[in-house]
Amino acid sequence: MSDLVTLEVRGAIGVLHIDNPPVNALSSGVVQGLQCVVAAIEGDTRLKAIVVHAHGRTFVAGGDISEFSRPGFTARPFNETLARLERLSIPVVAALHGTTLGGGLELAMACHYRIAAAGTKLGLPEVLLGILPGSLGTQRLPRLVGVRMALDMILSGKPIAAQKALEAGLVDAVVEAADNDALLNEAMAYANRLVEQGQGARRTSERQVSLEGVEPDFFDKALAEAKTRKAAYPAPQRIVRCVQAAATLPFDQGEALEAQLFEACRTSPESGALRHLFFAERAATKIPGVPADVAPRPIRKVGVLGAGTMGGGIAMNFANVGIPVTIVETSQAALDRGLGIVRKNYEASAAKGKLRPDDPDKRMALLTGALDIAAVADCDLVIEAVFENMDLKMDVARRLGQVCKPGAIIASNTSTLDIDMLAEASGRPADFLGMHFFSPANVMRLLEIVRGAKTAPDVLGTIVKLARTIAKVPVVSGVCYGFIGNRMLEPYLREADFLLMEGVTPERIDRAIQSLGLPMGPCRMLDLAGLDVAAKVVIERDKAGGLPDDPSYRSVVRKMMDLGRFGQKTGAGYYRYEGRTPLHDPEVDRVCAELAQQHGIRRRADEVTDQEIIERCVYPLINEGVKILEEGIAYRPGDIDLVWINGYGFPDFRGGPMHMADAIGLAHIAERLDHYARERGDAHGYWTRAALLTDMIAQGRKFADWPFK
Ligand code: 3HC
Ligand code: NAI
Repeated sequence: MSDLVTLEVRGAIGVLHIDNPPVNALSSGVVQGLQCVVAAIEGDTRLKAIVVHAHGRTFVAGGDISEFSRPGFTARPFNETLARLERLSIPVVAALHGTTLGGGLELAMACHYRIAAAGTKLGLPEVLLGILPGSLGTQRLPRLVGVRMALDMILSGKPIAAQKALEAGLVDAVVEAADNDALLNEAMAYANRLVEQGQGARRTSERQVSLEGVEPDFFDKALAEAKTRKAAYPAPQRIVRCVQAAATLPFDQGEALEAQLFEACRTSPESGALRHLFFAERAATKIPGVPADVAPRPIRKVGVLGAGTMGGGIAMNFANVGIPVTIVETSQAALDRGLGIVRKNYEASAAKGKLRPDDPDKRMALLTGALDIAAVADCDLVIEAVFENMDLKMDVARRLGQVCKPGAIIASNTSTLDIDMLAEASGRPADFLGMHFFSPANVMRLLEIVRGAKTAPDVLGTIVKLARTIAKVPVVSGVCYGFIGNRMLEPYLREADFLLMEGVTPERIDRAIQSLGLPMGPCRMLDLAGLDVAAKVVIERDKAGGLPDDPSYRSVVRKMMDLGRFGQKTGAGYYRYEGRTPLHDPEVDRVCAELAQQHGIRRRADEVTDQEIIERCVYPLINEGVKILEEGIAYRPGDIDLVWINGYGFPDFRGGPMHMADAIGLAHIAERLDHYARERGDAHGYWTRAALLTDMIAQGRKFADWPFK
């Protein structure tokens, strides 16, 4: 018998212990252990009841996701073990705590009775990994909670609270248990009572699915919805079919369908991408040079400088989790405007039912406005979000260095400026780092954390942890122009600009890029962000000598700003707008043609295919990503993928640009970069391959093999 699963006999009760830290995932070792223990139980006539119990912080949190990509992986051994467990004639009680998820809930549903500690969460989150519950979750859950609730839980992947599970019939009792031992005692008492009362097995698979109150077209509608809203994802349509089978077919036929459709999902590239992101998110919190057990600095109060577009949203993140914020502005009018927008945002969320009616007042009460920088003197963390201007930011950093209390962390939200220069200006470079939020800062999940040359390990550790507290995905970047995301965005926007001058319309560019699954192509994205903002970034970089010696470089965006076409906010940018609807604007064609003539760019819209648009915008972006890895600006390809998924709307089912590059083939990408270098010339290095790309191809490596030995 393995150490992962053991059987302890306490009087007439057998306790099946699972102990596979940290989350008791169902690795092949655990499954083998379960097989052995169930066989032992089958042969032990002394036992009158069984309690299934897991050690540590949670009951089983699911199948071991890291094993799903192994050749020959199959859920069959686990499913057969569940069937044997369910077939036992003595009552089997599952004692649930923590996060009872996926295969963990499927194990619980194969047991005859379930008791849960208050605070337990129960769910089938497989859909978030591009798969469906493959251990009879689609068959047993509808038998316990009905078709409607089961489909809702499986399609959303959202866990439910123990109390709701009790009301729905998913668990039989919710108990207050001070700790896991107390829970086990409660489960033992429950099992003993069942024995005393002569209660035997109660098998979920033998129940009928009730279709009461379910409209005849329920499944057709659900399928149509999955087809239209989730077409790119492998699991939702198949989930509907499985739950329909649970409601209409005998258990074994539903089981066969689930097995077949689970396998189709598991082997899909989309599920591979989503599983990659699951592990990438966890890996991104492990920072070289920062010990896992580093003691974080306490963050009880936060200061924010600037209540503009970013400052207000940044402050909301902290108020949302109960951390008080002092917001400093330069004038009462700016402060009132900024706080007014925050209040409106909260009230809009309350009106949509996303917040309780009294939440806006409660959260606003955590925000204190001030006009003097000295007001942040008692803050543990201060984030400046003032105008993107180096002289101003240097001055603000210097003043923060003087005002902040010893040990306070000082951060800049700059998108482009040199964090090391700002850190030195503060006089406290060890306490300084970049916290690059994305707009809208209260919504976008990405937080790029910019590590300065002298940022202290505990400062980094504190901010990575804090990021998770405020529900952000943290990714650490080194110092370079644009950090990870905006640096990679630059060649993408450069090529979009050239394509416009070559005569390709904004609509065609956007359509080609959107065919990859991005919600917006580059033209619509810039129209939304503001072409004035985008052009100013180019102009500032030019002033700082950071642009290639190429007068045609991003000349369309600069021209748009000159013409006052700032995008959606002025009703015209790359498109003209009726409300929020983008429409073709012949004036843009004229401007682009004029610029093409000025810069000697050949008009060739008829020759340009959608594939060329994708290759020219996306492959240089990937190439820049490789350079970022080569220079150590990003620690891992997965970090880059997280930046693009959570900051730029890259489709998660493609796993991010680096994961997608593996799927396309690195040799193919390199060949196309070389092709465009030949076709278009490479005087400015636009198409020069990253050296690491060439090395990886020579050595037959993929990004999935990272870190290279
Ligand atoms: N498989 C493998 N490893 C897992 C895992 C799983 N199901 N769940 C968590 N882990 C690992 C994480 O990778 C992490 O490893 P690391 O320390 O090396 O980085 C460690 O366990 C701790 O995880 P978290 O950092 O996420 O810990 P939290 O306490 O923040 O969250 C959790 C715990 C809520 C359980 C979260 O880990 C989670 O949501 N896990 C995934 C749950 C899930 O999707 N279950 C379904 C799996 S698919 C399935 O069951 C298929 C079946 O139907 C056949
Ligand atoms: P904004 O112009 O909307 O707001 C800046 C605010 O700072 C103004 O309200 C201004 O009054 C205030 N301010 C100026 N000097 C100040 C001082 N000394 N003390 C206190 N407040 C002062 O600018 P936005 O867009 O919010 O940008 C702020 C920072 O965030 C910039 O560094 C920008 O690069 C960065 N950023 C912006 C993003 C965006 O999409 N807008 C995205 C990510 C980062």
